[in-house]
Amino acid sequence: MKYNHTLVTEFFLVGFMDHPELQVALFTMFLIFYIITLVENIGMIVLVKIDAQLHTAMYFFLSNLSLVDVGYSTAIAPRMMMTFISQNKMISFAECATQFFVFCMFVTAEGSLLAVMAYDRFTAICNPLFYLSVMSSKLCAVLLACAYICGIVNSTVHTVFIFSLSFCNSNVINHFFCDTPPILKLSCSDTCTIDILHFILSTIIALTTFVIILVSYMYILLAILKIRSPQGQQKAFSTCASHLTTVAIFYGTIIFMYLRPSSSFLMDQDKIVSVFYTLVIPMLNPLIYSLRNKDVKDAFARVTNKMARSHST
Ligand SMILES: *[C@@H]1O[C@H](CO)[C@@H](O)[C@H](O)[C@H]1NC(C)=O
Repeated sequence: MKYNHTLVTEFFLVGFMDHPELQVALFTMFLIFYIITLVENIGMIVLVKIDAQLHTAMYFFLSNLSLVDVGYSTAIAPRMMMTFISQNKMISFAECATQFFVFCMFVTAEGSLLAVMAYDRFTAICNPLFYLSVMSSKLCAVLLACAYICGIVNSTVHTVFIFSLSFCNSNVINHFFCDTPPILKLSCSDTCTIDILHFILSTIIALTTFVIILVSYMYILLAILKIRSPQGQQKAFSTCASHLTTVAIFYGTIIFMYLRPSSSFLMDQDKIVSVFYTLVIPMLNPLIYSLRNKDVKDAFARVTNKMARSHST
C-alpha cells in the first residue's frame, strides 16, 4: 500500500498479522488478560474506597496506580482485539492520535506516580513520627496532580509533533497500536526536532523520577539496615519489596523498549515487549501489591464478610 501524496487520512494497523491462524487464540488470550486487569484494578479502587483502614496516603496512591493501569490498558486493548477479529484494520488519523495521546499520558503518569510512591515510602520509613503530618491529604493531592501534569505535558508535546509530520512512504503501522517508533518510521519528514524534544523531555521527567526513586530507596535501605529487630526489619522491607518489584518491571521494560535508536526497532520482538508493558504490567501490578500485602487481604476479607452478612439477613 504505497502512498505517493503526503495526505494520509488513515492508517492500517497490522497487529500480529504474520500469524493469521493464531488470530482467534490471540483474541481470546488478550480478552482474558483485559478482563482480569479490569476486575483486579477496579476491585482495588473500590476496596480502597470502601474500607476505612485503607484510607492512607499509600493506598490513595495505589488506587491511583490502578486507575492509571485501567486507563492505559483501555487505550490499547479493545482496539487491538478488534484488529484480531475484524477485517477492517484501518484506524483514522484522529483516532490514532487520540489513542497515542491517552496511552502516552497514562504511561508517563505511571512513571511519575512510582516516584511519588517511593517518596511516600521514604517518609513512612525514614520519618515515621512525622509521616501523618507530612503526607497530608493536601500534599497527596498535589503530588498526584504533578504526576498527571507530567503525563499531560509529555503527551501533548509528543502528540503535536508526531502527528504534524508528513506521512508519505506508506500508511501501514506494523504494530498493534499507535506507538511512537512505528509511526516515526512512516514519516518522510525530518524527525530531528522530535528526537531532540524527546530527549529533553525524557531527560527532565525520566531523570527526575529516576533520581527520586533511587534516592528514596537508598535512604529506605539504610533505615531498614538500622532497625534492630528482625520482625521490624522484615515488615519495613516487605512493603517496599512490592514497590521495588513494580519499579523494576516498569522501568526495565521501558528502558529496553525506548532507550535505543528507533532505527534498530525489530518489529516482531518489540511487539512482544509492547504486549508486556501495555497489557501484562497493568495485570500484574495489583497482584504484586495485594497478594503480598496483609492489609489488602484483611480489607478484602472484611468487605466480603460484610457483604455476605448483609446478604444472609
Ligand atoms: C514521553 O512520551 C514518549 C512517547 O510515548 C515516551 O517514549 C517517553 O518515555 C515519555 N517520557 C517519560 C518520561 O515517560
